[in-house]
Amino acid sequence: MSGPLPQSERKALGAYYTHETVVRFLVGWGLETRPGSVIDPSCGDGRFLEAAGEMAGVRLVGCDVSPQALAETEERLGARGLSAKLLGQDFFTLAPESVEPVELVVGNPPFIRYQRFDDRSRRAALASALRLGVRLSRLTSTWAPFLLHATRFLRPGGRLAMVVPAEITQTHYGLRTLEALLHRFASLHLIAFEENFFAGAQADTCLLLADGWGGSGRFVHLTPLSSIHELRLHGGSLGLLGDPVCVELTDGNQTRFSEAYLEKAERQAWNRVRRHPHVRTVAALAEVTNGYVTGDNEFFHRTRTAAEDAGLPPTWLYPTTRSSRSLLGLRFTADDIATLEAQGTAHHLLVPQEDLFTEREPLDRLIAEGKERGTPNRFKCRRRAPWWKVPGLQDADVLVGYMAGARPRASVNDARAFYTNSLHGLRVRPGVSPLLLALGFYSSVTLLSLEIEGRSYGGGILKIEPRELDRILIPWPDLSSDETAALARTVDSLLRAGHYEAATEAVDAALLVGALGLSERTVKSLRAGRTRLMKRRLERSRKRS
Ligand SMILES: C[S@@+](CC[C@H](N)C(=O)[O-])C[C@H]1O[C@@H](n2cnc3c(N)ncnc32)[C@H](O)[C@@H]1O
Repeated sequence: MSGPLPQSERKALGAYYTHETVVRFLVGWGLETRPGSVIDPSCGDGRFLEAAGEMAGVRLVGCDVSPQALAETEERLGARGLSAKLLGQDFFTLAPESVEPVELVVGNPPFIRYQRFDDRSRRAALASALRLGVRLSRLTSTWAPFLLHATRFLRPGGRLAMVVPAEITQTHYGLRTLEALLHRFASLHLIAFEENFFAGAQADTCLLLADGWGGSGRFVHLTPLSSIHELRLHGGSLGLLGDPVCVELTDGNQTRFSEAYLEKAERQAWNRVRRHPHVRTVAALAEVTNGYVTGDNEFFHRTRTAAEDAGLPPTWLYPTTRSSRSLLGLRFTADDIATLEAQGTAHHLLVPQEDLFTEREPLDRLIAEGKERGTPNRFKCRRRAPWWKVPGLQDADVLVGYMAGARPRASVNDARAFYTNSLHGLRVRPGVSPLLLALGFYSSVTLLSLEIEGRSYGGGILKIEPRELDRILIPWPDLSSDETAALARTVDSLLRAGHYEAATEAVDAALLVGALGLSERTVKSLRAGRTRLMKRRLERSRKRS
């Protein structure tokens, strides 16, 4: 009997075996309509082949690069009186023509990061993907070309049933892979789970069910389930899993699957507000502008006191905003700058002047200080002349955090401060009130919109790129300036006191219920939807780490 693989080898081969429930569901669905031949291109210990042999698989083919895994497969199948054609090789080097086409490709591909990907294997993988018209970069993880290569073993009309990482809906190359599959199968279905079902591996996974090789579809159907145990109730039948959500793959970068994770009432509320005449996109109200990059934050940012002590001219000091942590209230003020500096974070940017009428001495001193710490050789500084002049300083009416945890931030720029590229600047269009715009960010419409448009990064952080910010929805009611100012005072003090949820409730009550006339129920659904998506991203990152 062959022993289990050691952990290091397991990791190198991406050898994490699939839960029995998932195996039976994928094979059951794959062979549901017609019995046929089956290939598992990375068969591990042969559990998919065993299930296929027991169900309706008539000809079984297994491939795995690990001889130990193949020995396990042989043993497992033998114990059941089953047999398979077993190929001990790198699947990427297996030519589709060398195997008679199959009805079903099933299994769980290795998820190996590009750093660990063997060079010869990578070349074969990328070449095979290219034969299907998909140009993947060298930084792609194994599973994507693995799926694409696997489709080339199918008969027309065949099915593919695979475990895939959730990054298929989250990364650029994942979406490209999904798009390629969509163009080659009549239908494509994803099943996502709230709970991660691979205890050992760190990947967040879902199931991919592609039907009708040689066809072409337009939508990805997505069914969110809480755990794999829900699959057991439905014995391989997709129809019984409830109504899937259709996601259209438009421009790969714009496709958002997050909406599919909303409950029905939440999605209905979201669709209602999206079409509301008093809801606008950020792009309709303001222009998004980029913050500056210094190349050496510590050198270019000084507190007023430190700059004075160093004898730097006060005229070189410009108020600035460092990150969304700088945004303490609804208004970002000169007092906030003083508070933040008193707490030790410099909030002034050095903008040295080379004025003929002033002395050159402070500038020479600053340049010497920079040289001493190696600032001119820093990546960004090397590329500009003079290195000590930070470019891209822009004015903005409203500042919005680029990254958000549980509490996205936006503030009116009362201090007329510059801002780093950890923030977005918004320059309002004529007639737009910056205060009302900033208030809108704390509404459940906007907070939900941020969850839908943004991308979840490591640590559960939500990142909003400029193009995504453009599409964010903002409630835009007719509110008098007095009403706006009164609401702003309340929200500003709640935010400063750390009562973020109370601030959002005040905004919802005034803007969504009071001014837009949305029902309490609709607002509750928006709020619940936002909380659901936010928890999903925060909890999944916690489970992974
Ligand atoms: C995630 S495991 C899946 C095993 C099995 N199908 C299951 O789900 O229980 C991935 C398997 O891929 C194999 N593998 C890794 N790279 C491979 C390659 N280039 N070609 C074929 N198999 C490979 C590993 O040895 C491992 O058994």
